[in-house]
Amino acid sequence: MKIMLINGPNLNMLGIREKGIYGARSYEEICNFVKEEAEKRGHEITLFQSNCEGEIIDELQKAYYEKYEGIIINPGAYTHYSYAIHDAIRGIDIPTVEVHLSNIHTREEFRHKSVTAPACIGQMCGFGENGYILAINALEMYKK
Ligand code: DQA
Repeated sequence: MKIMLINGPNLNMLGIREKGIYGARSYEEICNFVKEEAEKRGHEITLFQSNCEGEIIDELQKAYYEKYEGIIINPGAYTHYSYAIHDAIRGIDIPTVEVHLSNIHTREEFRHKSVTAPACIGQMCGFGENGYILAINALEMYKK
């Protein structure tokens, strides 16, 4: 499967930011971990990270034109208020799984709501970087 993994704002700071919440593994280490597992399973995976909403939307639209078959997205804080990312996910009609490293439901109230998840086939949260692998499982199961 041709998969795109999109990470939103501040996720490039993994390994530095709030280690008690997000863990000590760096963004690069997590990328390698996910890429290795995806390729082991025979998938082609593209990794993208941006701190900018518009760039994330551009990448989602690119996924449509380049015929990606699955998207894994951690929109970071955009999760909680970006109707534009919600619309972009809906607009491209590619099965998309939302991932959060932390359990957003046990944290501050503003994190409890995801405006992007309703545009996705499902959401994974609270399993750290393993959530990205669980998202690959979900895409594989969805495709069958
Ligand atoms: C996050 C949760 C968001 O609330 C937060 O803004 C992030 C990371 C997560 O992966 O747990 O940047 O998406």
